[in-house]
Amino acid sequence: MDSTVKDKESLLARLLEAGGEPLSGQAIADEAGVSRTAVWKWIKELEEEGYRIRSVRKKGYVLEGVPDILTPELIRKELGGDEFVGRILHFDSVESTMPIAHREAQEGAADGTVIIAEEQTSGKGRLARPWTSAAGKGIWMSVILTPDIPPHKAPQFTLIAAVSVCRAIRETAGVEARIKWPNDLLAGGRKVTGILTELQADPDRVKAIIIGIGINVNQDPGDFPESLQPIATSLKIQSGQKVDRAKLAAGVLRRLGECSRLYLEKGFPPIKKMWEEDAITIGRRVKAVTVRETLTGTAVGITEEGVLELRLDDGTIRGIYSADIELQD
Ligand code: BTN
Repeated sequence: MDSTVKDKESLLARLLEAGGEPLSGQAIADEAGVSRTAVWKWIKELEEEGYRIRSVRKKGYVLEGVPDILTPELIRKELGGDEFVGRILHFDSVESTMPIAHREAQEGAADGTVIIAEEQTSGKGRLARPWTSAAGKGIWMSVILTPDIPPHKAPQFTLIAAVSVCRAIRETAGVEARIKWPNDLLAGGRKVTGILTELQADPDRVKAIIIGIGINVNQDPGDFPESLQPIATSLKIQSGQKVDRAKLAAGVLRRLGECSRLYLEKGFPPIKKMWEEDAITIGRRVKAVTVRETLTGTAVGITEEGVLELRLDDGTIRGIYSADIELQD
């Protein structure tokens, strides 16, 4: 990744690329076609944003520390040259990243566009439930995907997202997360991630799939509202250490790109296999609370459509399309 310096953002990208080596203020000014004072102002602005930059006499500027924020530059540095991720739009505070992603998709955003926020003041969960998204504590992002598939296959992308996040969490934070059908990730028996998939589609073709991913990363127990404390957890609580959010966001996006590609090349079977390896639900006795009824049985697998198959006590198999699942054993 070689960037020409032309503004504060590209200067930051160059400082990150330099990996601790000094960058000459004069060389930057010449490259950008601006004065040294303009470069100095960009440096001051970056310092105000929390970057620690040392000025070494006769050598230039050295980046010594980065703030805990999810800027596109930091995520891209962690991603290397991953081709899947397109534009990354980063916000300090939004109501929810979902409507922003919908708007971007309607305006023709490309596959792999990412909307990410430090804080959501009105985060959305499944079944219109609220999603608590405290500032700087988690990863709250929506990813726009534009696969050429019919709408009935779109739920498979919830499973693709669950597998991607589950594996990225294991790789980056070392936490053994497991998937609870359809889209919750649990760690230590509590919810650490929620995934919300929404669709823009014509009758026969998907226009865009918006995958909303909420990961509880660096909360302490007291950071959750009291009602959530018995059921929610964070990666920090589970691992005992603070997790680098930019690394984790990059890990999730890299995995999402890989799994989407795998799916588009080989179809659903390899994803189903990965999902079943990561799932906590399969083989367990579960209670499924649907809008119409409550069923108890053993979860035996998922279908091509991502439907959960439940073997009831009388031996019949029932497909569960949408439900809250409680593990019974
Ligand atoms: C759930 O488990 O109910 C799904 C939670 C999904 C939360 C994410 S956070 C990013 C995106 N923006 C939202 O408002 N919701 C999703």
